[in-house]
Amino acid sequence: MSNSAGLRAEAAKLISEVVHHGKSLSDNLSQVQAAMEREADRRLLGALVYGSLRWYSRMDGLLSSFLGRPVPRKQQVLNSLMVCGLYEQHYLSTPDHAVVSETVTAARMLGHPRAAGMVNAILRRSQREGAKVLLELDQQPALRHAHPSWLLERIRQDWPACWEDILSANNLQAPFWLRVNLQQGSRADYAGILETECGRSATLPAAFPAALVLDQGMDVERLPGFDSGRVSVQDGAAQLAGSCLEPRAGERVLDACAAPGNKTAHLFEMAGGTLDLLALDHSSERLERLRKNLLRTGYRAQVLEADASAPDSWWDGRPFDKILLDAPCSATGVIRRHPDIKWLRRGDDIPVLAGLQAKMIRALWPLLARGGRLVYTTCSVLREENERVVSDFLACNDDVEELNLPVLQDVASRMQYGYQILPGDSAADGFYYVALIKR
Ligand SMILES: C[S@@+](CC[C@H](N)C(=O)[O-])C[C@H]1O[C@@H](n2cnc3c(N)ncnc32)[C@H](O)[C@@H]1O
Repeated sequence: MSNSAGLRAEAAKLISEVVHHGKSLSDNLSQVQAAMEREADRRLLGALVYGSLRWYSRMDGLLSSFLGRPVPRKQQVLNSLMVCGLYEQHYLSTPDHAVVSETVTAARMLGHPRAAGMVNAILRRSQREGAKVLLELDQQPALRHAHPSWLLERIRQDWPACWEDILSANNLQAPFWLRVNLQQGSRADYAGILETECGRSATLPAAFPAALVLDQGMDVERLPGFDSGRVSVQDGAAQLAGSCLEPRAGERVLDACAAPGNKTAHLFEMAGGTLDLLALDHSSERLERLRKNLLRTGYRAQVLEADASAPDSWWDGRPFDKILLDAPCSATGVIRRHPDIKWLRRGDDIPVLAGLQAKMIRALWPLLARGGRLVYTTCSVLREENERVVSDFLACNDDVEELNLPVLQDVASRMQYGYQILPGDSAADGFYYVALIKR
């Protein structure tokens, strides 16, 4: 049996888990990759799964135009396999004959030997006619940009001048960003280490004080100093949340939605390691990852499993100097990193999320000391979760004032309230930030 056909069969199963069973991708993919010996195989699997999910609806449109009738429910994995084959044919440089033969073999390996002829016929037809059919299908924006219609409409409504740029950026592979712990040496020094030890070159983007952007990805465990917290993997936009909060040594800080703790560790790094920090999250599973992150980076925080929107049940009455509210959100700013979001999120989720975000700000505001700062941030590009939440809050509270954030001035757009980075701006993820001061 062909090993690379086996890889395509695995890809089809992973894609089908997302598209047909609503499962999120990253944990499942990591598990399968962990069992693979060769880095090249791990990379190819990642490329096939991510790429197919990015372009699923466009490739599925192509597939439908070739199929007489839909693939039966019991054989849904074949649908994902053919989408994966079409994706490989139209987007990757694999020779045509290899795509056909590996995908046909994969259909057999998935337990559908009688479908081999159909898979073969579809891929061969696509070789001949695919480009022409796609030209027609691309008249429909939802297929051209491979986004669900509800999300495309929301983005078009919120960003009428640049909605297509956002959708295009969502379909590009994100660069590999690192955050260097400046307590342990400069980023220029670390870039030098990467060059000599790993043969990787990095750029040092001026607007992101601790960031390096690598020319290509690599296994995280191979990053020099990763185990001792010298470096972490974190997009530049996420790094700016810490810059907006500006934690200072000795301050009492609440990280209200903290897990898995990427920003928690950054706050400690920025404050020289000494903060009186409460890291709170309602997910015990994600808090486990936060604990591991703190262990790796060597910082000590109070960790609490609790509901940020109901502080009566956990707050000891001591005010916080700073609060970071990295709120649960639609994650529509990070689709380039998590293309499964296109499948997992529904239009109905947005008002529910906005309601929770508003409840959290309202509940946490009384915990802030006078003169203290609350930073509200999301990785969403939807106004309902960002400016609207903030403007509603400002309208009902007179002890609050918005703070200008010069640190964002070169990278984010100034909104009526807060700042927005759109996906791909400065090579970063889409993020929203606002800093509120208690008068
Ligand atoms: C955007 S993520 C936080 C990412 C984290 N700040 C980091 O940088 O690693 C949002 C988090 O909010 C948590 N969350 C959702 N609802 C919550 C609630 N009611 N109370 C506390 N945490 C909640 C989720 O479990 C999730 O970990």
